[in-house]
Order: sequence, then structure tokens, then C-alpha cells
Amino acid sequence: MAGTTLKIDISGRGGSYEIAIANGSISRVGSWAKQHSGKVARKIIVVSNTTVFPIYGGFVAEQLRSAGFEVGTWQLKDGEVHKNWRNVEKALNAFAAFDLSRTDAVVALGGGVVGDLAGFAASIYLRGVPFLQIPTTLLSMIDSSVGGKTGVNSSAGKNRVGSFYQPSGVLIDTGLLKTLPPREITAGLCEAVKQGVLSGRELFKTTSDFLSRYPVAEMSKNFGEREFGNAIDSLVAAQVGFKASIVRGDERESTGRADARSRKILNFGHTLAHALEKVTSYKHFKHGEAVGYGILYAAELSKMLALTDDKVVNLLYDVVHRTGRLPSLSGIDPEEVVEAFRFDKKQVAGSLQMILIKGIGKPAIVNGDGIPRSTHIRALKHLFKKHQS
Ligand SMILES: NC(=O)c1ccc[n+]([C@@H]2O[C@H](COP(=O)([O-])OP(=O)(O)OC[C@H]3O[C@@H](n4cnc5c(N)ncnc54)[C@H](O)[C@@H]3O)[C@@H](O)[C@H]2O)c1
Ligand SMILES: [Zn+2]
Repeated sequence: MAGTTLKIDISGRGGSYEIAIANGSISRVGSWAKQHSGKVARKIIVVSNTTVFPIYGGFVAEQLRSAGFEVGTWQLKDGEVHKNWRNVEKALNAFAAFDLSRTDAVVALGGGVVGDLAGFAASIYLRGVPFLQIPTTLLSMIDSSVGGKTGVNSSAGKNRVGSFYQPSGVLIDTGLLKTLPPREITAGLCEAVKQGVLSGRELFKTTSDFLSRYPVAEMSKNFGEREFGNAIDSLVAAQVGFKASIVRGDERESTGRADARSRKILNFGHTLAHALEKVTSYKHFKHGEAVGYGILYAAELSKMLALTDDKVVNLLYDVVHRTGRLPSLSGIDPEEVVEAFRFDKKQVAGSLQMILIKGIGKPAIVNGDGIPRSTHIRALKHLFKKHQS
């Protein structure tokens, strides 16, 4: 297959799988699934949602049939609220009704919501069946489809229930992003900036150069152009490579680690993001958009704590703003936001771990409880002031 193939050996125990990244690769989904679903898979069930399936599902199912699979399908309603227990049970029932056996496979066709739920269901159905991923959002291509975290939301909180379950293969066709709404592109780009900042100069530059060359507002016009296709493939491959390198070194996000390569650093920008999502009842921001603000907040706070300087802060404002327009912050109460930090799921042993930065490629894990509330509020006010509109 043309394009880039990254071989991922997450556990170091030989449990490796491939992430194939190539524009147009969906046309070869049949042979790809045959190659990665295990030698004896006869049946395959495509899990998708009611937005993505009508666009790509028919084609994918047809290709899988042509490759010799008996194909089943199951669709989730669109939206984060549907990533829940009830739908896991419905998915498991659909697998059973289709008589999916231990040697058959599940394929997720969709964004992070579909991937997380389908992966979780695949991990517990018959104690685990082969799972393939075809991520269709930028966020799921560079982030959620890499690393083996699966799960759903429950009344106890977001992503509270889940498993670590590595897929047997991931197929990334960046051409599928053509139909993705612009806000979802912005959300994915914010996570890309996050990973660039964490990784260091090279990935930061690749991401920032991509944003300069292809302004987000006009990005949709570029799909189908060869040069753009190559540029977005390279960006996604570099991003996936970074995420995989972190996951490889710390598959299960060990609680005891606090070094600059621990999986925890991927939470950069997320303390504020989760709080902003919570205080707006998950309705105002796409998760990635909230991460965009989270990056800037972490930068402001890092500067206040003398970990970094204005130059880095300004650089981050510049690059985050190039990911597109973020929803307004007006009407959000900084006090309420700081209060919501308490609920951050990355709390370890009751203390709030925050990822701050000393510079590009230099994350630092800091105990947020040691930071005075007044400093949090001041950093937030700086951020809000720069975004009054
Ligand atoms: N497992 C992990 O490590 C991990 C990491 C980050 C995020 N996540 C999870 O991922 C989820 C967010 O994922 P997401 O941002 O992909 O959101 P999503 O799955 O909700 O997709 C966003 C929207 O885009 C639509 N869509 C998807 N692909 C499309 C396409 N090609 N064309 C047109 N529309 C398309 C979807 O129907 C949806 O409306 C959250 O539930 C989050 O918790 C998981
Ligand atoms: Zn995120």
C-alpha cells in the first residue's frame, strides 16, 4: 500500500500492529481487512454511526463483501451522549445476533466516539475479538485510534469505564476528512498542536508549517489536490508516530511516573478543557476546541510560575489561533471553572496533576494543588481578556 505504514509494538511483547496511512486507501479496505483480521475470520461487523455510515458505510461493506467476508453492520446515533453503557449492550447483542465468533472481527468506522465504544465492546465480547479501526475524524486519526484506550461514559463520569485493548490494525485515509465539518477539523488541529508542543521542535514545526500553508478556512478546497494530500498524510503520520512513541513507553499510564515522556503528558491542555466542557454542560465546545484554550491556559500558568517566558506564550497563541475560530468564552465564570478542576479525571491519589511547559518539547508535570487558587484565577483572566469578543 502506498503511503506510510507505521508498525506499532505497544507492549514490547511482540503484540504489534500496523497503522497504514495513505490518501485514498479506503479503496483497498477489503484486502487490508483480510490481512489484519486473522487468518480465519469469516465474518466482520462494521460499527459506525448514523452520520458516517450513510457517507462511507455502503462502500466499505461492499468492499469487505468482495474480499470474501460475510458483513454485518450496527449503527450508533451520532453524538458523545450515545457513548454509553446501554449502547455497549446493544452492540454486544448485535454481535451475538450476527453470530460473530472469536475468530471473526469488529471494525470501527467513525470518529473517537465510535472507536471507543466499538473497541470496548470488541474487548469484552467473548473476552475479546479482533478489532480493526478506520478513524474518520482528524482527532481520531492522530489521537484516539492510537494507544488502545477504549471505553464509554457512565453516570460516574466521562470515560470512567473501559479497557486497554490494542487493535489488530488501523487504516487511515485522510481523504475521508473531506466531508468532516470545519469545527471538527479545528478540534483535531488543536490536539495536533498539543502533540507538537509536547514532542518538540520538529513536530511543532511540521504542524505549524501545515497551518501556515493551508489556512483552515480554505482547507476544504484543497482535498483532492495531490500536494495537499501528501502534506496532510505527512502531518498525520508524524502525529501518529509521536503518540505511538509515548504510548509504547508507558502503555498503561502508570500513576507513579511524572517524567516528561510519561503518558500523562498527553493531558496537556486538558485540565482547563475538561473544566470548560463541564461548566458549559458539554454543549458549547467540541472537546478539541476546549483543548485549544487549555493549551493557552497552561502556557499562561507556566509563565506565571516562571517556568516559561512570553516568547513561548505568544508563539502558542499564534499557532492555536491558526487552527480556526474557537467558540467565545463570554459568559463563563472563571471561579466556576477553577471549581470544576476538582473533577478532573486525571486526579491521582486525590491530587490534581497539571501538565505545564518550560518550552516547546519540554513538558513538566506539576502538582496543581500547590498552585494558589488566586494564581489559577489570574491566569484564566489573562486568557479571557485576550479572547473578549
Ligand atoms: N481512546 C482514546 O485514547 C481517546 C483519545 C481522545 C479522545 N477520545 C474520545 O474520542 C471522542 C471524540 O472523538 P471525535 O472528535 O472523533 O468525535 P466524534 O466521534 O463525535 O466525531 C465528531 C463528529 O464528526 C462526524 N464525523 C466523523 N467522521 C466524519 C466524516 N469523515 N465526515 C463527516 N462527518 C464525520 C461524527 O458523526 C460526529 O458528528 C470522545 O468521546 C473522546 O473521549 C478517546
Ligand atoms: Zn483530548
